[in-house]
Amino acid sequence: MTNRETPNDRGRRALALCGAGAFALLVAGCGGNQNAVAPASPQEHSITTLFWVMLGGATVGFALVVALLWLGYARRARPGLPREVGERGATRLVVGLGIALPVALLVALFIWSDVFVITSTAAPNKSSTSLAVNVVGHDWWWEVRYPGTAAVTANEIHIPVRTRVYLSGTTADVIHSFWIPELNRKIDLIPGQTGHIVLDADRVGVFRGQCSEFCGLQHAHMAVAVVVQSKPAFRRWLAANAAPARPGNASAFLAAGCGDCHQIRGTAARGDVGPDLTHLQLRRTLAALTLANTPANLDRWIRHPQAAKPGSRMPDVRLGDARWAAIDAYLRSLH
Ligand code: CUA
Repeated sequence: MTNRETPNDRGRRALALCGAGAFALLVAGCGGNQNAVAPASPQEHSITTLFWVMLGGATVGFALVVALLWLGYARRARPGLPREVGERGATRLVVGLGIALPVALLVALFIWSDVFVITSTAAPNKSSTSLAVNVVGHDWWWEVRYPGTAAVTANEIHIPVRTRVYLSGTTADVIHSFWIPELNRKIDLIPGQTGHIVLDADRVGVFRGQCSEFCGLQHAHMAVAVVVQSKPAFRRWLAANAAPARPGNASAFLAAGCGDCHQIRGTAARGDVGPDLTHLQLRRTLAALTLANTPANLDRWIRHPQAAKPGSRMPDVRLGDARWAAIDAYLRSLH
């Protein structure tokens, strides 16, 4: 037994893991936007306000409790309250500060959060919105459809700015949770059910989201981006995505069996296990934001998906370099 861990090793390893975790949290909080207190929609504004008020209230409450504890400790040798209030006064203090005040505060917060904020962040009906988007969670990517059009994409939801978008979410397999922290609260995507939420971005930009319900090995690599565009830019994007694929030589792609899992509209590739690739080159990333969509990454991803995203449904397939080059060239032509 040469590589047996001593308690010291274990301690060091736990410390290193904690450090890495804290660093990851820091990076997630700062670098990748995903900042729930930097709202970019009216819904997230109301959630953020609620959060700060609750945090402020909790801080005041905590300070009060600590102060009373301290007072009790400082006066531990002396009987009675600091000032003479009598038995009735003491009862009033207990009922007022200890019961009535917390009940009043909690009821007020409950009404504010559960009646006002939840209703204002939900998408109660389609008529109050002007665009519908359907999202389906998969292990481990997001399918995105625009009802009434042929447009379908993956891991990237384009929406026009200052437009109420009715987002419906469900799942093709296990429970996922859809969350764009700058735009709204989470909705769970539950088998057999459809959840709804409104997206109503008040500025142009890219807002990162993340599956927030553990769904298996690559849960952490199940990210999604909401791309908020000006209305004309969104209309152009939607029209481009609704068109069938550009003509190209799909033979190497089809011969390798890629069409069993992927659809490319206008070709014989009609699979529905993995993302639709009809306009792959209009996307910014590959593998649910795991890799930037560059030619080098595309080549790396299709040759060894299990290295980039272990456990993903896409298998490592052995083909000769010439066939990979032909598939690369075809996928790069899918604008
Ligand atoms: Cu999907 Cu976690």
